[in-house]
Amino acid sequence: MLVLGVETSCDDTAAAVLLDGRTVLANLVSSQDSVHGPFGGVVPELASRQHIRHILPILDGALKKAGVELKALDGIAVTFGPGLVGSLLVGLSVVKGISFRWGIPYVGVNHLEAHLLAVFLERDVAFPYIALLASGGHTLLYLVRGFGEYLYVGGTRDDAAGEAYDKVAKMMGLGYPGGKVIDQLAQNGNPRAVSFPRSRMKKGSFDFSFSGLKTAVWHYLSARGEDKWEAQKVDIAASFQEAVVDMLVAPTMRAARELGVGRIVLAGGVAANSRLRQRMAQETEEEGMAIYFPSPALCTDNGAMIALTGHRWLERGRRDDFGLNADADLTL
Ligand code: KG4
Ligand code: ZN
Repeated sequence: MLVLGVETSCDDTAAAVLLDGRTVLANLVSSQDSVHGPFGGVVPELASRQHIRHILPILDGALKKAGVELKALDGIAVTFGPGLVGSLLVGLSVVKGISFRWGIPYVGVNHLEAHLLAVFLERDVAFPYIALLASGGHTLLYLVRGFGEYLYVGGTRDDAAGEAYDKVAKMMGLGYPGGKVIDQLAQNGNPRAVSFPRSRMKKGSFDFSFSGLKTAVWHYLSARGEDKWEAQKVDIAASFQEAVVDMLVAPTMRAARELGVGRIVLAGGVAANSRLRQRMAQETEEEGMAIYFPSPALCTDNGAMIALTGHRWLERGRRDDFGLNADADLTL
């Protein structure tokens, strides 16, 4: 089965062609980082305009790269939520148009489900597993019991982990998005140079909180003034990152232990973080658990994970009609 996956939920216009639910024939992403960079975050109106500009060339490019003609597709998968409504509508409307014109069935995909399943593009993982989904918009823990069986375990009470990275990067003038830049800076820094606070939830909770850390970084920077902290940049980046990683690792490991699940899957843009991957690998090894993470390009938003999720729904016979609407607040 040949499936086209289309993703426009936030600020990346992405399309992929997937053969038989496993072989990625093409996976293209058009990033809008340079457009949103000067604002230090995604500007929704600009994002939708950029999607409109890039969606057709990206679709064309993906099909060409895959060497596939539109009419050869067996199905199309498109993100219909959650995300920015204007951005979602671009992908969804274009896919509905193609589906109608060429008579190709399509399904709407939940962006969160696609992140949770992205790992299957590279390997099989046995169920059940604990999934940590950490991105710019979400920080969630799920117990994944099987395809379509996602049990909510915990989530952030305030900012998402990626949002904390992006906001701290903005405070430090490092540009947008901040995750990758801080990750790289931190490689040369001392993670124990500054002791930023770690939020603790009450016993039994698997929730996260990053706003206190973000405020602590702001206070630290303001108290010193730019001429002082500039010289300390790499240590601040490493110390901030260590705090984020501590706060992601602890509830995830505890959930795996308390729910008696020996497999953990990382997903979402923050799962591309080198320190998080290193720490999760260490901790799971010590406890005899298995850890799986997709390649960095499959952690951040991409069309391949949408195609994969769509493939699984299509093979179960699901087809969506043209009444399907974008749902900015879609949950799992
Ligand atoms: O999954 P994603 O591409 O989009 C959303 O659905 O949000 O995640 C983007 C987020 C951004 O906040 C970005 O700063 C963060 O993932 N990110 C990282 C890294 N690469 C991307 N955070 C930490 N370390 C990284 N290497
Ligand atoms: Zn995402």
